[in-house]
Amino acid sequence: MLKRVLLAAAGAALTIGAAHAQTMAKDTRGTPDERAAAVLKQMTQDEKLLLVKGYFSTDFPLTKFTAPPEGRAGSAGYVPGIPRLGIPAQWQSDAGIGVASQGGAKSKRPHTALPSGLAIAASWDPEVAFAGGAMIGSEARADGFNVQLAGGVNLVREPRNGRNFEYTGEDPLLAGTMAGHAIAGIQSNHMISTVKHYAFNDQETDRNAGNVTIDEAAGRESDLLAFKIALEQGNPGSVMCSYNRFRGDFACESAYLLTQVLRKDWDWKGYVMSDWGAAHSTQNAVEAGLDQESGFGLHPDDNLGAGLVAALAKGTVGKARLDEMATRILRSMFEHGLVDDVASPVGGIDFAANRAVSRKAAEAGAVLLKNDGDLLPLASVKRIAVIGGHADKGVLSGGGSSQVYPGDGFDGGNAVPGLKPNFWPGPVVFYPSSPVEELKKQLPGVQIDYLDGSDPVAAAALAKQADVAIVFGTQWASESIDVQMALDGDQDGLISVVAKANPKTVVVLETAGAVKMPWNGDVAAVLEAWLPGSGGGEAIADLLTGKAVPSGRLPVTFPADESQLAYPSEPRKGEIPYAEGATVGYKWFDAHKLEPLYPFGFGLSYTRFTMDALTLDQDDDGLLSAEVTVSNIGQREGAQVVQVYASHAGWEAPRRLAGFAKVSLKPGESRKVAIAIDPRLLAKWDVATHGWTVESGQYAIAAQTDALSEGEAVGFSLDKLLFYPAGWSMPKP
Ligand code: BGC
Repeated sequence: MLKRVLLAAAGAALTIGAAHAQTMAKDTRGTPDERAAAVLKQMTQDEKLLLVKGYFSTDFPLTKFTAPPEGRAGSAGYVPGIPRLGIPAQWQSDAGIGVASQGGAKSKRPHTALPSGLAIAASWDPEVAFAGGAMIGSEARADGFNVQLAGGVNLVREPRNGRNFEYTGEDPLLAGTMAGHAIAGIQSNHMISTVKHYAFNDQETDRNAGNVTIDEAAGRESDLLAFKIALEQGNPGSVMCSYNRFRGDFACESAYLLTQVLRKDWDWKGYVMSDWGAAHSTQNAVEAGLDQESGFGLHPDDNLGAGLVAALAKGTVGKARLDEMATRILRSMFEHGLVDDVASPVGGIDFAANRAVSRKAAEAGAVLLKNDGDLLPLASVKRIAVIGGHADKGVLSGGGSSQVYPGDGFDGGNAVPGLKPNFWPGPVVFYPSSPVEELKKQLPGVQIDYLDGSDPVAAAALAKQADVAIVFGTQWASESIDVQMALDGDQDGLISVVAKANPKTVVVLETAGAVKMPWNGDVAAVLEAWLPGSGGGEAIADLLTGKAVPSGRLPVTFPADESQLAYPSEPRKGEIPYAEGATVGYKWFDAHKLEPLYPFGFGLSYTRFTMDALTLDQDDDGLLSAEVTVSNIGQREGAQVVQVYASHAGWEAPRRLAGFAKVSLKPGESRKVAIAIDPRLLAKWDVATHGWTVESGQYAIAAQTDALSEGEAVGFSLDKLLFYPAGWSMPKP
């Protein structure tokens, strides 16, 4: 009821004060703060309340909810504007992989899908992340959206988390950098992007109630550091707080997360929106620092709608707090251009150009894990057997709210419709980008036969007759579920049978995250293509034929099996203490001397590189950078990822990634790269001084080709680095 009244109020306001609107909101002379303050002064309480309550923007029969007609149909959210003051509505869509449609939407809007967030992270190239974000933002604009629910930066702590494909890996520096650049790319289109899901929402099992606890310093050095770096590099207009509990409070009601860390320590100025249904009370949420509640209608909670109206009337929430909430929202809308460049569905998406962006990203993020005898790129083959993974039709995508549909209509252009689950957390969607078709195009004259793999005996027989067998292995994952760290069904069995029939077997993986590979020793080559997006089939063919040279590196460790995990049995429920602290991913393997299947940072190429010994440099401000000369000593142009790891005895693990750079080199070319070291990666969070502190002692820095390999280390002691005296604390956390 309240919803209708508020929407009606906004509509009525339009006719009263339209003239004034122009002078208020279009005045571009002030700073975002000044402009937000000036508009706030003109607002009634009802108008302020409009800004803090978001609606689901898809009909939802379960709660008998009909989406507001002013929203963009079939999308995630809508927040009414204030036309009288020139403040546009907020049209929200998901976002991380491309412009999504809600699964329950009657008709899906066609959009370009990027490779998964993990694939983008695997490029280790911030420019790839920015270009992908810019592409998503441009499509969002074309469909009239101005808020993108993107920027997933939850650390991959639990390899079975069903949403890992939306995130950017297990290391805070890599994850924060890649998510930050994706956010910046999106926002370059005059819109707001979120960073999400804040914080410690690292698994889907029990996601609405599980209570995460972690030691204070370890939290700052891991998940929170990833968020902080993403905020610095992406400057998102909004932070989306998550579903889970943290230290007993729901994340959207956590004064620690929303006020202590975000406002006091980080001095952040944007607004906090809740995940859809993640706020559970008015008083706690408002006091903790929540500014906008999202998705009314998908859930019945109306904490920042009716609940807030009542609290204001009772005086349990003061008017000043509502002013603060509205001001933060307005400020971000001004800062990111939503008011000066109002979104409207103008259309005109260049799908061919955008698919090329996606294809390039998929090429940059694919990781060549094994290539015995240089079987790849495919050369002088006459007959290829391709098996499984629906490679004749398309490439797999991840499910849930981030699902992008390639076409319109109810099925949304799914290349393999009808796979289970059909509905939430499905549907399972394949993008119509067939690796087989593209291989045929790129290898004219080669006989390429395809079998779906449902009959392993037939598959083995086909493989035997071919020069090379290529088996596609898939792992689907989705929001709201966690998954096995394995290929779906019995694809492992299929691969083993094929590999026995033909030792020249290549496995192409389309997985949401890390999987076990019981057949790893039996196959000649493995290419991890992740969930490769709209141009994924073409990208895979490019890499197999050598039209493109693999340059991705793992953004997550691939464990040998679950026994190596911090919590081997399965993702936990209820109380979820992070006893491993900041010892996440490769750090866990390093600290416990475990040998994974493939380590973080690992990836092969079709060319070869050398790295000369590293030297350290210090600028006038005392900031360190590592300088390394990289050379391409092979026959092909290719890119090396220089990974700089720092080590110190007193840390959570022997080594931390402290900086990285991707360098593209022609055959015979050498280049010197300077890689700045973020000082927080040489520091520890000191609870007593509430800041980053560099301990005195011995440190070493090495350039490596993965997290667990040995590089030639340069050692130094802190006494020599006057900028970091013992106990020196960096200015702000
Ligand atoms: C997800 C968010 C998403 C929102 C809106 C939630 O279920 O956790 O990531 O942005 O839905 O679709």
